[in-house]
Amino acid sequence: MTASSTGPAARESDGLAPIESSDLIDPYGGRLVDRGSASGEARRWRAEAAGLPAISLPPRMVTDLYLLAVGALSPLEGFMDRETYELVLQEMRLPSGLPWSIPVVLAVHETDAGRLRAGEPAALCSPDGELAGVIEVTEIYRRDVECESRSVYGTADTDHPGIAALHALGDVYVGGPIHLLRASPLADGVKPEEILTPAETRAAFRERGWRSIVAFQTRNPIHRAHEYLQKCALEIVDGLLVHPVVGEAKSDDLPPAVRMECYRVLLENYFPAERVLLSALPLAMRYAGPMEALFHAIIRRNYGCTHLIVGRDHAGVGDFYGTYDAQRIFDRIDPEVLGIRPLSFEHAFWCRTTGQMATAKTSPSGPEQRIFLSGTRLREMLARGERPPAEFTRPEVADVLVQAYARG
Ligand code: ADX
Repeated sequence: MTASSTGPAARESDGLAPIESSDLIDPYGGRLVDRGSASGEARRWRAEAAGLPAISLPPRMVTDLYLLAVGALSPLEGFMDRETYELVLQEMRLPSGLPWSIPVVLAVHETDAGRLRAGEPAALCSPDGELAGVIEVTEIYRRDVECESRSVYGTADTDHPGIAALHALGDVYVGGPIHLLRASPLADGVKPEEILTPAETRAAFRERGWRSIVAFQTRNPIHRAHEYLQKCALEIVDGLLVHPVVGEAKSDDLPPAVRMECYRVLLENYFPAERVLLSALPLAMRYAGPMEALFHAIIRRNYGCTHLIVGRDHAGVGDFYGTYDAQRIFDRIDPEVLGIRPLSFEHAFWCRTTGQMATAKTSPSGPEQRIFLSGTRLREMLARGERPPAEFTRPEVADVLVQAYARG
């Protein structure tokens, strides 16, 4: 554990001097990539884009384009070429040797691929037809969907939502550096000011004097188990970045706007404002369990975080992964190279014996005294028209959820 023992929590009332400056963790690969819409180059591309062959991006690639441009996927500067794609699948690393678990690829259908040439740029359009960016195509190659499925998801079962999404994409991948030409990413129902770039979260951390920052990845409304993990972590680090993903997700995951409202009311009522930052992350869920946990960690390092909470079945779905597989993958990676550390937690539950949240590490209770919570159980309860009890979720959050379900 590398969390510092002082921090912004050491306020004047504690008799300790506030920290003046902070040395944040480096971005992955050492430098934050910036291929954003404000650069001079972007202006040039905007003028040229109309004459280029156009690729219509599926929603998950619109958000990947944005993340590449703002440096969330540093050191990547564009969609992966064949060599990088194959190394990621076969050896879980980039050509530079840095560990990397999930391909960041631009998929097109054969018909579109026919209009593209390696060495020539192409325009990238959002599903709404808007110009989103440009790719300087370096390579056009065929994917290996079976190998990609097994390597990333550990299965080729098309019942897995990540694999179903993979099969819906085109079979041809297009590699090359990108330029973002549209400032705001695709994230329905999320206020643009609630989507901070890595440069912006880093500036916010510096301003607050935070050095050790734990990120909380989530795709669900925050329930009591989430809050428990966050607060345990907050006891040992300077600050918490609540960083929900708001990109493409399974159809039964709750819409981002509702989840954001849940996070706001929870933070307002139950967290010290000066220790927490809420920002939405326009990233599509892959549901790839362990491989995605590593991906999530790399991304959060780029946002300036030193730790990532990894609980039970992180980024998992159904029974595809073991409860703690996503924690074990970090044992395969050199912690010095990865930089960001997982904060691993056991399955948390409401404990009737002690009247609080706990895990098997902290509670003496037997199974009948333990109420296990999960996003799935919460959704099932709401779908039945039941109000989640206080052991499950805070009343203010329950209000938001009940109203959202009543609206349909
Ligand atoms: S995830 O797909 O984004 O991982 P979710 O939003 O449910 O799903 O979980 C966010 C984080 O909280 C993950 O690290 C997950 O492992 C952890 N988590 C969720 N529920 C529990 C629980 N009851 N006990 C321990 N960890 C949990």
